[in-house]
Amino acid sequence: MIDAETMLDRILAAENLQELDSVRVALLGKQGEITARLKSLGSMDADTRAAEAPGIHALRERVTSAIADRKAALETAVLERKLATEKIDLSLPAPDTPQGTVHPVSQVMDELAEIFADLGFSVAEGPEIETQWYNFTALNMPENHPARAMQDTFYLEPQDGEEEPRVLRTHTSPVQIRTMLRDKPPIRIIVPGRTFRSDHDATHSPMFHQVEGLVIDRASHMGHLKGCLIEFCRAFFDVDDLPVRFRPSYFPFTEPSAEVDIGCSRAGGELKIGHGGDWLEILGSGMVHPKVLVNCGIDPEEYQGFAFGMGIERIAMLKYGIPDLRTFYESDLRWLRHYGFVPLDVPSMVGGLSR
Ligand code: DAH
Repeated sequence: MIDAETMLDRILAAENLQELDSVRVALLGKQGEITARLKSLGSMDADTRAAEAPGIHALRERVTSAIADRKAALETAVLERKLATEKIDLSLPAPDTPQGTVHPVSQVMDELAEIFADLGFSVAEGPEIETQWYNFTALNMPENHPARAMQDTFYLEPQDGEEEPRVLRTHTSPVQIRTMLRDKPPIRIIVPGRTFRSDHDATHSPMFHQVEGLVIDRASHMGHLKGCLIEFCRAFFDVDDLPVRFRPSYFPFTEPSAEVDIGCSRAGGELKIGHGGDWLEILGSGMVHPKVLVNCGIDPEEYQGFAFGMGIERIAMLKYGIPDLRTFYESDLRWLRHYGFVPLDVPSMVGGLSR
Protein backbone atom coordinates (compact mmCIF):
# COMPACT_ATOMS: atom_id res chain seq x y z
CA MET A 1 0.00 0.00 0.00
CA ILE A 2 1.21 3.45 -0.88
CA ASP A 3 1.19 5.86 2.01
CA ALA A 4 -0.28 9.35 1.88
CA GLU A 5 3.09 11.12 1.74
CA THR A 6 4.16 9.12 -1.31
CA MET A 7 0.91 10.00 -3.02
CA LEU A 8 1.40 13.71 -2.37
CA ASP A 9 5.04 13.51 -3.51
CA ARG A 10 3.97 11.94 -6.78
CA ILE A 11 1.45 14.70 -7.35
CA LEU A 12 4.08 17.38 -6.72
CA ALA A 13 6.57 15.56 -8.95
CA ALA A 14 4.25 15.70 -11.99
CA GLU A 15 5.98 18.04 -14.41
CA ASN A 16 3.15 18.63 -16.81
CA LEU A 17 -0.60 18.25 -17.10
CA GLN A 18 -0.38 14.82 -18.79
CA GLU A 19 1.82 13.42 -16.03
CA LEU A 20 -0.49 14.85 -13.41
CA ASP A 21 -3.45 13.24 -15.10
CA SER A 22 -1.77 9.80 -15.01
CA VAL A 23 -1.17 10.24 -11.29
CA ARG A 24 -4.82 11.21 -10.83
CA VAL A 25 -6.01 8.13 -12.72
CA ALA A 26 -3.67 5.90 -10.68
CA LEU A 27 -5.09 7.24 -7.43
CA LEU A 28 -8.67 8.29 -8.05
CA GLY A 29 -9.55 6.55 -11.34
CA LYS A 30 -11.83 3.47 -11.52
CA GLN A 31 -8.94 1.12 -10.81
CA GLY A 32 -7.14 3.68 -8.66
CA GLU A 33 -5.52 3.12 -5.31
CA ILE A 34 -7.86 5.29 -3.30
CA THR A 35 -10.92 4.06 -5.20
CA ALA A 36 -9.93 0.49 -4.26
CA ARG A 37 -9.66 1.48 -0.60
CA LEU A 38 -13.07 3.12 -0.72
CA LYS A 39 -14.51 -0.04 -2.28
CA SER A 40 -12.92 -2.20 0.41
CA LEU A 41 -15.03 -0.40 3.02
CA GLY A 42 -18.04 -2.37 1.71
CA SER A 43 -16.57 -5.73 2.72
CA MET A 44 -15.54 -4.67 6.23
CA ASP A 45 -17.53 -5.39 9.32
CA ALA A 46 -19.24 -2.42 10.85
CA ASP A 47 -16.63 -1.68 13.55
CA THR A 48 -13.63 -1.84 11.26
CA ARG A 49 -15.47 0.27 8.70
CA ALA A 50 -16.29 2.91 11.33
CA ALA A 51 -12.62 3.00 12.26
CA GLU A 52 -11.22 3.05 8.69
CA ALA A 53 -13.75 5.18 6.77
CA PRO A 54 -12.83 8.65 8.10
CA GLY A 55 -9.14 8.11 7.26
CA ILE A 56 -9.86 6.96 3.68
CA HIS A 57 -12.30 9.82 3.03
CA ALA A 58 -9.84 12.34 4.44
CA LEU A 59 -7.10 10.87 2.23
CA ARG A 60 -9.31 11.19 -0.83
CA GLU A 61 -9.98 14.84 -0.01
CA ARG A 62 -6.30 15.69 0.55
CA VAL A 63 -5.31 14.01 -2.68
CA THR A 64 -8.13 15.68 -4.66
CA SER A 65 -7.19 19.13 -3.45
CA ALA A 66 -3.44 18.50 -3.95
CA ILE A 67 -4.18 17.54 -7.57
CA ALA A 68 -6.25 20.70 -8.06
CA ASP A 69 -3.45 22.86 -6.61
CA ARG A 70 -0.80 21.21 -8.76
CA LYS A 71 -3.01 21.60 -11.83
CA ALA A 72 -3.43 25.33 -11.20
CA ALA A 73 0.30 25.73 -10.66
CA LEU A 74 1.13 23.89 -13.89
CA GLU A 75 -1.39 25.95 -15.86
CA THR A 76 0.02 29.21 -14.55
CA ALA A 77 3.51 28.04 -15.47
CA VAL A 78 2.33 27.24 -19.02
CA LEU A 79 0.80 30.71 -19.36
CA GLU A 80 3.87 32.42 -17.98
CA ARG A 81 6.12 30.54 -20.35
CA LYS A 82 3.86 31.59 -23.22
CA LEU A 83 3.86 35.24 -22.17
CA ALA A 84 7.62 35.22 -21.83
CA THR A 85 8.26 33.66 -25.23
CA GLU A 86 5.48 35.22 -27.34
CA LYS A 87 6.42 38.84 -26.86
CA ILE A 88 4.78 41.34 -29.21
CA ASP A 89 6.47 44.72 -29.40
CA LEU A 90 3.58 47.10 -29.94
CA SER A 91 5.88 50.11 -30.10
CA LEU A 92 7.48 48.97 -33.30
CA PRO A 93 6.00 50.71 -36.39
CA ALA A 94 4.94 48.16 -38.96
CA PRO A 95 7.20 48.57 -41.95
CA ASP A 96 5.63 49.63 -45.27
CA THR A 97 2.13 50.03 -43.84
CA PRO A 98 0.63 53.05 -45.56
CA GLN A 99 -0.75 55.60 -43.12
CA GLY A 100 -4.25 56.88 -43.81
CA THR A 101 -5.00 60.58 -44.09
CA VAL A 102 -8.01 62.71 -43.19
CA HIS A 103 -10.06 63.71 -46.24
CA PRO A 104 -10.16 67.49 -46.81
CA VAL A 105 -13.98 67.47 -46.38
CA SER A 106 -13.66 65.89 -42.91
CA GLN A 107 -10.81 68.21 -42.03
CA VAL A 108 -12.84 71.31 -42.97
CA MET A 109 -15.88 70.00 -41.04
CA ASP A 110 -13.64 69.68 -37.97
CA GLU A 111 -12.31 73.18 -38.48
CA LEU A 112 -15.85 74.58 -38.81
CA ALA A 113 -16.99 72.79 -35.66
CA GLU A 114 -14.00 74.27 -33.78
CA ILE A 115 -14.57 77.84 -34.93
CA PHE A 116 -18.30 77.79 -34.29
CA ALA A 117 -17.93 75.99 -30.97
CA ASP A 118 -15.81 78.94 -29.93
CA LEU A 119 -18.74 81.20 -30.86
CA GLY A 120 -21.17 79.11 -28.78
CA PHE A 121 -22.66 76.91 -31.52
CA SER A 122 -23.31 73.20 -31.23
CA VAL A 123 -23.43 70.68 -34.08
CA ALA A 124 -26.81 69.31 -35.26
CA GLU A 125 -27.62 66.66 -37.84
CA GLY A 126 -30.64 65.56 -39.83
CA PRO A 127 -31.74 62.93 -42.37
CA GLU A 128 -30.45 62.91 -45.93
CA ILE A 129 -33.80 61.67 -47.24
CA GLU A 130 -36.36 64.39 -46.58
CA THR A 131 -40.00 65.13 -47.18
CA GLN A 132 -40.71 67.98 -49.52
CA TRP A 133 -42.25 69.86 -46.63
CA TYR A 134 -38.96 70.02 -44.67
CA ASN A 135 -36.77 70.51 -47.73
CA PHE A 136 -38.91 73.16 -49.50
CA THR A 137 -42.34 74.11 -48.16
CA ALA A 138 -41.43 74.95 -44.56
CA LEU A 139 -38.52 77.00 -45.89
CA ASN A 140 -40.97 79.17 -47.80
CA MET A 141 -39.95 77.77 -51.17
CA PRO A 142 -43.12 77.91 -53.26
CA GLU A 143 -44.54 75.11 -55.40
CA ASN A 144 -43.12 76.68 -58.57
CA HIS A 145 -39.63 77.33 -57.19
CA PRO A 146 -37.04 76.24 -59.78
CA ALA A 147 -35.11 74.20 -57.17
CA ARG A 148 -38.10 71.87 -57.01
CA ALA A 149 -37.80 70.95 -60.68
CA MET A 150 -36.85 67.38 -61.63
CA GLN A 151 -33.58 68.47 -63.23
CA ASP A 152 -32.38 69.94 -59.91
CA THR A 153 -33.69 67.50 -57.32
CA PHE A 154 -33.56 63.73 -56.91
CA TYR A 155 -37.06 62.44 -56.19
CA LEU A 156 -37.57 59.00 -54.66
CA GLU A 157 -40.13 56.49 -55.92
CA PRO A 158 -43.39 57.39 -54.14
CA GLN A 159 -44.14 54.99 -51.28
CA ASP A 160 -47.59 53.64 -50.51
CA GLY A 161 -49.66 56.12 -48.57
CA GLU A 162 -47.23 58.98 -49.15
CA GLU A 163 -48.81 62.24 -50.23
CA GLU A 164 -45.78 63.33 -52.20
CA PRO A 165 -42.53 61.52 -52.97
CA ARG A 166 -39.58 62.19 -50.71
CA VAL A 167 -36.37 63.83 -51.95
CA LEU A 168 -32.64 63.59 -51.32
CA ARG A 169 -32.18 66.84 -49.42
CA THR A 170 -30.89 69.57 -51.73
CA HIS A 171 -29.41 71.60 -48.86
CA THR A 172 -28.82 71.33 -45.12
CA SER A 173 -31.52 73.97 -44.46
CA PRO A 174 -34.25 71.42 -43.55
CA VAL A 175 -32.30 70.76 -40.35
CA GLN A 176 -33.10 74.38 -39.38
CA ILE A 177 -36.76 73.43 -39.48
CA ARG A 178 -36.27 70.18 -37.57
CA THR A 179 -34.27 71.98 -34.89
CA MET A 180 -36.77 74.83 -34.46
CA LEU A 181 -39.65 72.36 -34.20
CA ARG A 182 -37.78 70.30 -31.60
CA ASP A 183 -35.90 72.84 -29.45
CA LYS A 184 -36.95 76.02 -27.73
CA PRO A 185 -34.95 79.20 -28.49
CA PRO A 186 -32.27 80.32 -27.88
CA ILE A 187 -30.88 78.14 -30.68
CA ARG A 188 -27.35 78.26 -31.99
CA ILE A 189 -26.37 75.39 -34.29
CA ILE A 190 -24.28 74.50 -37.27
CA VAL A 191 -25.28 71.58 -39.47
CA PRO A 192 -22.58 69.96 -41.56
CA GLY A 193 -23.76 67.22 -43.89
CA ARG A 194 -24.25 65.60 -47.26
CA THR A 195 -26.53 67.19 -49.84
CA PHE A 196 -27.65 66.13 -53.32
CA ARG A 197 -28.53 67.83 -56.59
CA SER A 198 -29.09 66.50 -60.04
CA ASP A 199 -26.02 68.27 -61.40
CA HIS A 200 -22.73 67.01 -62.74
CA ASP A 201 -19.88 68.99 -64.28
CA ALA A 202 -16.45 70.36 -63.37
CA THR A 203 -17.85 72.51 -60.57
CA HIS A 204 -20.94 70.50 -59.58
CA SER A 205 -21.25 67.03 -58.15
CA PRO A 206 -24.54 65.15 -57.56
CA MET A 207 -23.42 64.67 -53.95
CA PHE A 208 -21.60 67.37 -52.05
CA HIS A 209 -21.44 68.81 -48.55
CA GLN A 210 -22.82 71.93 -46.96
CA VAL A 211 -22.76 73.54 -43.60
CA GLU A 212 -25.78 75.40 -42.37
CA GLY A 213 -25.89 77.83 -39.47
CA LEU A 214 -28.87 78.99 -37.43
CA VAL A 215 -29.22 81.42 -34.54
CA ILE A 216 -32.59 82.18 -32.95
CA ASP A 217 -33.14 84.32 -29.89
CA ARG A 218 -35.00 87.40 -28.74
CA ALA A 219 -32.59 90.10 -29.73
CA SER A 220 -30.47 88.92 -32.65
CA HIS A 221 -30.17 91.27 -35.61
CA MET A 222 -28.26 91.88 -38.83
CA GLY A 223 -25.30 93.21 -36.83
CA HIS A 224 -24.91 89.82 -35.14
CA LEU A 225 -25.10 88.07 -38.50
CA LYS A 226 -22.34 90.30 -39.84
CA GLY A 227 -20.14 90.04 -36.76
CA CYS A 228 -20.47 86.27 -36.62
CA LEU A 229 -19.72 85.70 -40.30
CA ILE A 230 -16.80 88.15 -40.44
CA GLU A 231 -15.32 86.39 -37.42
CA PHE A 232 -15.84 83.02 -39.11
CA CYS A 233 -14.28 84.05 -42.46
CA ARG A 234 -11.19 85.48 -40.79
CA ALA A 235 -10.70 82.48 -38.52
CA PHE A 236 -11.29 79.94 -41.27
CA PHE A 237 -9.03 81.51 -43.89
CA ASP A 238 -6.55 82.48 -41.18
CA VAL A 239 -6.27 86.09 -42.37
CA ASP A 240 -6.81 88.51 -39.47
CA ASP A 241 -7.85 91.51 -41.56
CA LEU A 242 -9.55 89.60 -44.38
CA PRO A 243 -11.95 91.96 -46.17
CA VAL A 244 -15.54 90.66 -45.95
CA ARG A 245 -18.42 92.17 -47.95
CA PHE A 246 -22.19 91.66 -47.61
CA ARG A 247 -24.16 91.94 -50.85
CA PRO A 248 -27.97 92.11 -50.95
CA SER A 249 -29.42 88.91 -52.33
CA TYR A 250 -32.53 86.76 -52.28
CA PHE A 251 -33.40 83.48 -50.60
CA PRO A 252 -37.00 82.47 -49.93
CA PHE A 253 -36.17 81.54 -46.33
CA THR A 254 -34.48 84.80 -45.30
CA GLU A 255 -35.45 88.45 -45.38
CA PRO A 256 -33.32 90.47 -45.83
CA SER A 257 -30.79 88.15 -47.48
CA ALA A 258 -27.12 88.72 -48.14
CA GLU A 259 -24.40 86.96 -50.02
CA VAL A 260 -20.99 87.11 -48.42
CA ASP A 261 -17.81 87.79 -50.39
CA ILE A 262 -14.24 87.71 -49.18
CA GLY A 263 -11.30 89.70 -50.49
CA CYS A 264 -8.92 88.07 -52.93
CA SER A 265 -6.51 88.77 -55.73
CA ARG A 266 -6.44 87.05 -59.08
CA ALA A 267 -3.20 88.63 -60.29
CA GLY A 268 -1.37 86.47 -62.82
CA GLY A 269 -4.30 84.02 -62.92
CA GLU A 270 -3.52 82.82 -59.38
CA LEU A 271 -6.17 83.11 -56.71
CA LYS A 272 -5.01 84.45 -53.35
CA ILE A 273 -7.33 85.03 -50.39
CA GLY A 274 -6.82 88.39 -48.67
CA HIS A 275 -6.33 92.01 -49.75
CA GLY A 276 -6.13 92.31 -53.48
CA GLY A 277 -9.05 94.40 -54.65
CA ASP A 278 -11.11 91.51 -55.97
CA TRP A 279 -14.01 89.58 -54.42
CA LEU A 280 -15.00 85.96 -54.15
CA GLU A 281 -18.46 84.77 -53.12
CA ILE A 282 -18.41 82.13 -50.40
CA LEU A 283 -21.75 81.89 -48.67
CA GLY A 284 -25.43 82.81 -48.46
CA SER A 285 -27.10 84.26 -45.38
CA GLY A 286 -29.96 86.34 -44.05
CA MET A 287 -32.42 87.03 -41.25
CA VAL A 288 -34.75 84.06 -40.90
CA HIS A 289 -38.02 84.85 -42.73
CA PRO A 290 -40.98 85.37 -40.36
CA LYS A 291 -42.98 82.81 -42.36
CA VAL A 292 -40.30 80.19 -41.64
CA LEU A 293 -40.51 80.96 -37.91
CA VAL A 294 -44.30 80.66 -38.02
CA ASN A 295 -44.01 77.33 -39.87
CA CYS A 296 -41.96 76.11 -36.91
CA GLY A 297 -44.33 77.42 -34.26
CA ILE A 298 -42.05 80.30 -33.23
CA ASP A 299 -43.63 83.73 -32.77
CA PRO A 300 -41.74 86.21 -35.01
CA GLU A 301 -42.87 89.07 -32.76
CA GLU A 302 -40.93 87.51 -29.94
CA TYR A 303 -38.01 85.77 -31.62
CA GLN A 304 -35.82 86.39 -34.59
CA GLY A 305 -32.53 85.16 -35.87
CA PHE A 306 -30.18 84.64 -38.74
CA ALA A 307 -29.05 81.75 -40.90
CA PHE A 308 -26.33 80.99 -43.36
CA GLY A 309 -25.22 78.19 -45.63
CA MET A 310 -22.17 77.30 -47.65
CA GLY A 311 -20.56 74.51 -49.65
CA ILE A 312 -17.82 72.65 -47.78
CA GLU A 313 -15.91 71.47 -50.87
CA ARG A 314 -15.93 75.03 -52.18
CA ILE A 315 -14.36 76.55 -49.07
CA ALA A 316 -11.95 73.58 -48.82
CA MET A 317 -10.85 74.17 -52.44
CA LEU A 318 -10.27 77.86 -51.75
CA LYS A 319 -8.40 77.36 -48.50
CA TYR A 320 -6.23 74.45 -49.55
CA GLY A 321 -5.75 75.25 -53.24
CA ILE A 322 -7.55 72.19 -54.62
CA PRO A 323 -8.40 72.95 -58.25
CA ASP A 324 -11.02 70.35 -59.28
CA LEU A 325 -14.19 69.43 -57.40
CA ARG A 326 -14.48 66.01 -59.03
CA THR A 327 -11.20 64.83 -57.49
CA PHE A 328 -12.83 64.91 -54.03
CA TYR A 329 -14.78 61.74 -54.78
CA GLU A 330 -12.37 59.75 -56.94
CA SER A 331 -10.67 58.10 -53.94
CA ASP A 332 -7.34 58.35 -55.73
CA LEU A 333 -4.79 57.49 -53.07
CA ARG A 334 -2.19 59.81 -54.57
CA TRP A 335 -4.65 62.70 -54.29
CA LEU A 336 -5.57 61.73 -50.73
CA ARG A 337 -1.93 61.52 -49.74
CA HIS A 338 -1.26 64.90 -51.26
CA TYR A 339 -4.31 66.81 -49.98
CA GLY A 340 -5.13 64.71 -46.90
CA PHE A 341 -4.34 65.64 -43.32
CA VAL A 342 -2.46 63.86 -40.56
CA PRO A 343 -5.05 61.88 -38.53
CA LEU A 344 -3.99 62.82 -35.01
CA ASP A 345 -3.25 66.45 -35.82
CA VAL A 346 -6.72 67.65 -34.83
CA PRO A 347 -7.54 71.30 -35.57
CA SER A 348 -8.18 73.46 -32.51
CA MET A 349 -8.48 77.16 -31.73
CA VAL A 350 -5.53 76.85 -29.39
CA GLY A 351 -3.25 74.55 -31.35
CA GLY A 352 -4.04 76.19 -34.69
CA LEU A 353 -6.77 75.51 -37.24
CA SER A 354 -5.02 75.63 -40.53
CA ARG A 355 -2.60 73.06 -41.79
N1 DAH B 1 -29.72 76.68 -48.60
C1 DAH B 1 -28.93 77.56 -49.43
C2 DAH B 1 -28.38 76.80 -50.63
O1 DAH B 1 -28.40 75.62 -50.62
C3 DAH B 1 -27.80 78.16 -48.66
C4 DAH B 1 -28.29 79.12 -47.65
C5 DAH B 1 -28.43 80.44 -47.94
C6 DAH B 1 -28.66 78.69 -46.40
C7 DAH B 1 -28.88 81.37 -47.04
C8 DAH B 1 -29.13 79.59 -45.46
C9 DAH B 1 -29.25 80.93 -45.79
O2 DAH B 1 -29.47 79.25 -44.24
O3 DAH B 1 -29.69 81.81 -44.87
O4 DAH B 1 -27.92 77.40 -51.53
